[in-house]
Amino acid sequence: MSTAYLNGSFLPLDEACVPVMDRGFLFGDGVYEVIPVYGGRLFRLAHHLKRLQNSLDAVRIANPLSESEWEAMLTALVERNHGSDQSVYLQVTRGVVQRRDHAFPDETRPTVLAMSSKSLEPVDIASIQGITAITLPDIRWLHCNVKAITLLPNVLLRQQAIDAGSVEAVLLKDGNAIEGAASNLFIVKNGVLATPPNGPALLPGITRDLVLELAAANEVPYRECSIPEAELRGADEIWLTSSTREISPVTILDGHPVGTGQPGPAWKTMIGLYQGYKNRVRRGDAA
Ligand code: PDD
Repeated sequence: MSTAYLNGSFLPLDEACVPVMDRGFLFGDGVYEVIPVYGGRLFRLAHHLKRLQNSLDAVRIANPLSESEWEAMLTALVERNHGSDQSVYLQVTRGVVQRRDHAFPDETRPTVLAMSSKSLEPVDIASIQGITAITLPDIRWLHCNVKAITLLPNVLLRQQAIDAGSVEAVLLKDGNAIEGAASNLFIVKNGVLATPPNGPALLPGITRDLVLELAAANEVPYRECSIPEAELRGADEIWLTSSTREISPVTILDGHPVGTGQPGPAWKTMIGLYQGYKNRVRRGDAA
């Protein structure tokens, strides 16, 4: 049994309990982060904590821990879960209330949960075949930049993709491709990467930002711009990025092959750069 952290204590995950009057349970009133851990080191921690702060500010929950307290707690959690490759989930809800009322309570103490899930599988680039995806209308709200635990639209969209024999849904809104149900979107055309610009329509992904950073540092041309549906369908390559999937090449979209139907050369370059960055994090040469 893995070890979790709940409101100041470490305990076995199956003993971690939250009262039913927690507003996270009643309203989905909270925010979260998912942070990969490589070689015992929290990947891009400062970026995740900054996004957490932005999400907390957006939903008006006071951050219950300082940056150094978060770092100390998460580091201890990773150590208690054997320090190796893993994925850390944290969530902060508005806390436990006396009665159910949509309006904020006068005073609550946020509930803080962190837990670690299974080891991330080492990536064997040569064996990656690519994933299938389908397009679906984006049925989410107007604040998709907030990493809220209220994920019912994302859950339904992902399940619709699974039911269609695919792995992920690529969401379309006002004629543009936005992101995946739980991932950011990149396309490649004639060697140039394109990804939609950050804003309220999508989550500012930590993996997305690292891909752009690696592109800039390695002279891979890229653009942050809207991706009309026709450009998505005409792309040479499509990738979906997230902390848990890293950079997944989409090789079939809506039943049609993307480009050659195989992971493409731009993906091979970028996943190589990404694995190199991960190895630097493992050695303590990058964060
Ligand atoms: N989801 N867009 C959405 C809607 C997401 O839910 C996620 C990640 C991303 C990618 O963000 P990042 O690179 O920071 O992981 C983009 C996480 C992994 C989840 O909900 O489990």
